[in-house]
Amino acid sequence: MNEIEQLKQILNSSSNIVFFGGAGVSTESNIPDFRSEKGIYNQNKYPYPAEEMLSRTFFINHKKMFYDFYLHEMIHLHAKPNPAHIALVKLEQIGKLKTIITQNIDGLHQMAGSKHVLELHGSTKRNHCMKCHRFYHEKEMLEYQGICPICHDYIEPDVVLYEDPLDEDIIQQAIHAIQCCDTLIVGGTSLNVYPAAMYIRLFRGKNLILINLSSTPYDQLATLIIHQPIGQILEKATEDLS
Ligand SMILES: NC(=O)c1ccc[n+]([C@@H]2O[C@H](COP(=O)([O-])OP(=O)(O)OC[C@H]3O[C@@H](n4cnc5c(N)ncnc54)[C@H](O)[C@@H]3O)[C@@H](O)[C@H]2O)c1
Ligand SMILES: [Zn+2]
Repeated sequence: MNEIEQLKQILNSSSNIVFFGGAGVSTESNIPDFRSEKGIYNQNKYPYPAEEMLSRTFFINHKKMFYDFYLHEMIHLHAKPNPAHIALVKLEQIGKLKTIITQNIDGLHQMAGSKHVLELHGSTKRNHCMKCHRFYHEKEMLEYQGICPICHDYIEPDVVLYEDPLDEDIIQQAIHAIQCCDTLIVGGTSLNVYPAAMYIRLFRGKNLILINLSSTPYDQLATLIIHQPIGQILEKATEDLS
């Protein structure tokens, strides 16, 4: 039986699926990930490594360069959901998928129509002025280049930077979802970012499916591993589900 058939069978027999994803879910929407060959870490366009530029210390000490990097590299105003996001909407609508836990900050799962999405690392879609706390859309964030037009202070993205703690309530919901599901699909993530990656270890269900182009430190735990583009795989695996 090929991988797609195996995946179809698992999806058919599952009733409580959780999807845990990362930047690789959005590369087919033309948003670069961090660690692939064409990923942001390998582009060397800036004088500091991306990981450092996305840290709280860097945000505090080098605001101008942070915003230059953030506005150019992390905001993708015109990105649209791809077949991976759409297949996950279908799985939720037929009642099999209960929760999406994402490390992504692009909001594409919600744009596609997924309802129960836990954003571990926040979202570029939400931004607030650091002084007057006004809300700004992503489009305005770009238009004003990260500066509040009312009080001229910086507009801070609701994104978890390196060194920041994760939101406790979201962590608890994510842990609960992983502990209760029968099938966990992990996709498009190198599983290198902690603590997010650690949560996979809490899975006690039957099927751990890994869909990732490259191998990950968790491959040996998986019931099924597919090293193929996640959009194509999820689209094919869900085409006859109803
Ligand atoms: N779209 C976004 O919101 C976005 C983009 C870049 C980085 N990030 C942030 O970067 C951090 C990086 O960790 P990460 O593990 O998510 O990303 P990562 O860059 O470390 O890993 C991405 C993984 O996805 C795989 N991949 C790429 N395209 C794929 C595809 N089409 N199908 C299957 N696999 C594919 C790669 O082989 C790689 O292992 C996250 O915390 C996230 O917040 C988010
Ligand atoms: Zn303001």
